[in-house]
Amino acid sequence: MRDNTAVIAEINNILGSGQRLACVRSFGCQLNVSDGEKIKGLLKKMGYSFTDDEKAADLIILNTCAVRESAEDRVFGIVGSYKKLKEEKPSLILGIAGCMTAQSHIAEKIKKSYPQVDLVVGTSALSSLPSLILECLSGSRFAQDISEYDDFSEAAEQVRESTFKASVPIMFGCNNFCTYCIVPYVRGRERSRQAQDIIAEVEGLVKQGYKEIMLLGQNVNSYGKDIHGGVSFPELLRAINDIPGDFIIRFMSSHPKDASKELIDTIFECDKVAKHLHLPVQSGSSDVLARMNRRYTVDKYLETVGYIRSRDPEFSLTTDLIVGFPNETEEEFQQTLDLVQKVKYDNIYSFIYSKRSGTKAAEMPDAIDEEEKGQRMRRLLEVQREVSSEFYKRFIGRNMRVLVDGVSKKREGYVSGKSSEFIIVEFPGDSSLIGQFADVKITGAMNWAVTGEQI
Ligand code: SAM
Ligand code: SF4
Ligand code: F3S
Repeated sequence: MRDNTAVIAEINNILGSGQRLACVRSFGCQLNVSDGEKIKGLLKKMGYSFTDDEKAADLIILNTCAVRESAEDRVFGIVGSYKKLKEEKPSLILGIAGCMTAQSHIAEKIKKSYPQVDLVVGTSALSSLPSLILECLSGSRFAQDISEYDDFSEAAEQVRESTFKASVPIMFGCNNFCTYCIVPYVRGRERSRQAQDIIAEVEGLVKQGYKEIMLLGQNVNSYGKDIHGGVSFPELLRAINDIPGDFIIRFMSSHPKDASKELIDTIFECDKVAKHLHLPVQSGSSDVLARMNRRYTVDKYLETVGYIRSRDPEFSLTTDLIVGFPNETEEEFQQTLDLVQKVKYDNIYSFIYSKRSGTKAAEMPDAIDEEEKGQRMRRLLEVQREVSSEFYKRFIGRNMRVLVDGVSKKREGYVSGKSSEFIIVEFPGDSSLIGQFADVKITGAMNWAVTGEQI
């Protein structure tokens, strides 16, 4: 990571000691949100305080996602709406960071078509943000760094969004090249952090009172494989489980091709590891999985699910699904519906396939129209609703330990949180419970949450 001391001193010289406000908006996955927290850490060093109100901000950073076209369109819409803001306040610095910037055609488009944007900073060049801001303050019309030289992973300071839930990236990038996915192109190859650095970070967070630690990577199961003699992911989980303190460990995502028995045994044997697994399947058809380059079949996936459920028949699973992959037939889609009914997920995150230029799937012929894809999506959600309304009933009568994360948006006088199984639990309570664990006796179940009374 760069030493920015001199640059920051110069910025302070130009801006003086008065208050300066920054607004950082992160989109996309939790890894990107974590990058946003590091950007804030860097800005804090530069004397910025933070606001959610763009109109009050002297600096706005949009930390973007490129995974689907809709995510990119949303950012372009927001950038467009900032044109007026910039006219009203010419001193405003508007910056674009995140995965969109890693596609050269997008970086070009931003530079050409959106003159209100002052700087573009790539995901691997975040530590040059102070230099880019300095360039803007010194009168440059446009500053850009999208080079690849560091991961910014051991950033000294982060401004975390929550005081009780913390994300800890354990690795960056992805080697899997699923044919639909842009991530390997915008985030590069897999790079694992050193286990001792991760453990030290978690120890620090637990000491500060954090109650939930979310370990992040695009495929956490291949953690450590790029480090000679490295610690494996199950070993890392066990080491973090041994850290003294009252906290829960979550992780995502887990690629099914690498979800080993050892990993599953570790989940069951470590008391602090959440009793839930997010196991993205993407499709219930082995043919589609082959076209997606997922490198497992439906039978192999079901074998893994079978091993989990042989240890606990009611174990909580969630998944990601893509609807309308190029030339997905009605029969192949039906196999996805069958799989969802067979596995009984507690929740699914489903997406209509979005063509990403540069990926292999973008070259595949696709005869299915958007309306058909939309209909399949609605059918899938309907099946999942039926599955979860039935399956959630298994929690009635159980005692669940819940980390309360807010007041209920649907019911007055209720708080909401997540159980170890990653189930939303709502119960009567007030905001003083936020950030605390509560034991709740479950008395009712819906298809998106369960309800109960604090014990
Ligand atoms: N690395 C994780 C994995 O393999 O499970 C997934 C990360 S990706 C950011 C999150 C989800 O976005 C994927 O699981 C997939 O369902 C979805 N996704 C990725 N590319 C997509 C595309 N081109 N169109 C629609 N959904 C997509
Ligand atoms: Fe994308 Fe596949 Fe990598 Fe996940 S594993 S980030 S879906 S390429
Ligand atoms: Fe999006 Fe980049 Fe994450 S493309 S999903 S923000 S790694």
